[in-house]
Amino acid sequence: MTILLINIKELLQVRDSSVSKVCGRDMAVLPSIKNAYLVIKDDLIADYGEMHNIPSLSVDSTIDVQGKIVLPTWCDSHTHIVYAGDRSQEFVDRINGLSYEEIASRGGGILNSAQKLNETTEDKIYEESKLRLEEIMRLGTGAVEIKSGYGLTVEGELKMLRIIKRLSKNYPISIKATFLGAHAFPLKYQNDHQGYIDLLIKEILPEIHRNKLADYIDVFCETGYFSVAETEQIIKAGAQFGLKAKIHVNQFNSIGGVQVGVYNHALSVDHLEMMQKEDIEILKNSITMPVALPSCSYFLSIPYTPARAMIDAGLPLALATDFNPGSTPSGNMNFVVATACIKMKMTPEEAINAATINGAYAMGLSASHGSITIGKKASLIITKPITSFYQLPYAFGSNLIETVLINGKIIS
Ligand code: NIG
Ligand code: FE
Repeated sequence: MTILLINIKELLQVRDSSVSKVCGRDMAVLPSIKNAYLVIKDDLIADYGEMHNIPSLSVDSTIDVQGKIVLPTWCDSHTHIVYAGDRSQEFVDRINGLSYEEIASRGGGILNSAQKLNETTEDKIYEESKLRLEEIMRLGTGAVEIKSGYGLTVEGELKMLRIIKRLSKNYPISIKATFLGAHAFPLKYQNDHQGYIDLLIKEILPEIHRNKLADYIDVFCETGYFSVAETEQIIKAGAQFGLKAKIHVNQFNSIGGVQVGVYNHALSVDHLEMMQKEDIEILKNSITMPVALPSCSYFLSIPYTPARAMIDAGLPLALATDFNPGSTPSGNMNFVVATACIKMKMTPEEAINAATINGAYAMGLSASHGSITIGKKASLIITKPITSFYQLPYAFGSNLIETVLINGKIIS
């Protein structure tokens, strides 16, 4: 099946296959071709160029996208979209004055979601989660990472990972699975941290390995959750099973999570709302991608990741949603890109780089996703007719996407 797109007003994020991420000043550059064509062969990008160089081809269908912009689908490298029920009551409790941390210390928060998850059948959670996956695909996401972390028991964690695997089998969107058993200490282990860590390492990890249920390992490294030493113990155990780390750090406090991530060659360190100079320094020249989650800052009214200071220091930055029932009940990458521009002072070019190629890097998918490159997946956003790509963040809240293609197929 060959599809030809013609008269593309601007084809964004056109890159050579050698580019796996962009850092610092390079983030301000978004390579593009104006008045372009693009050829899709089956699930891959086969060719592209300027309209006046279009080759003569026999194709199955031609789509004229006059006035519209084409870009790679969003790469959302941090989500928790498998969960049961919701936490809208906690949302109202926060409006009435309680903080996220106060709600958690009363047994709400992650433990509340864990209780719901363990009381709900695997099929029911699958049905609830697939609606969220379908929604984000329609919103232009073509690759996503999904975490466990609302089980906090052997059975609950494995159940979540099996659901992620089932989603990945049944949907064209590319999915990476992350084991986040270290999301919170269950009540019965509040005074026996090592007991719970042993359960994660000795019981759950070997089972995950046996059934190939995860690609990455995550820990919520934060005051009141997992300490830096506990985080290190868990990610080193994950490494023994071939799982690279992608960790939650510096959401509320800078306690050394970034350092432990970098020293242990984490693929990404995520959240980063509270960054000190040392945290920025240690990330320089590392292989670890910093990931910002502006919808979480928006929803919880906490500081935004200091993107300007980080990019100006030469770092790369990725953007993701953090879609979860507690801190970010939204999987809209368009809102993330707009909020990064509006609140974090990223330029549209920087935000789009962060939400595509750098997001792909942050989940180990930059060889197949994140740019318009021959041989990468034909996962594309076709916008409505717009004046320029600046409109994507500028007209925040409007849906400017007309069509989404994932692996060469139109998503309706
Ligand atoms: O990334 N911070 C830790 N985990 C999630 C929120 C979890 C929850 O509240 O359910 C996050 O924000
Ligand atoms: Fe998260």
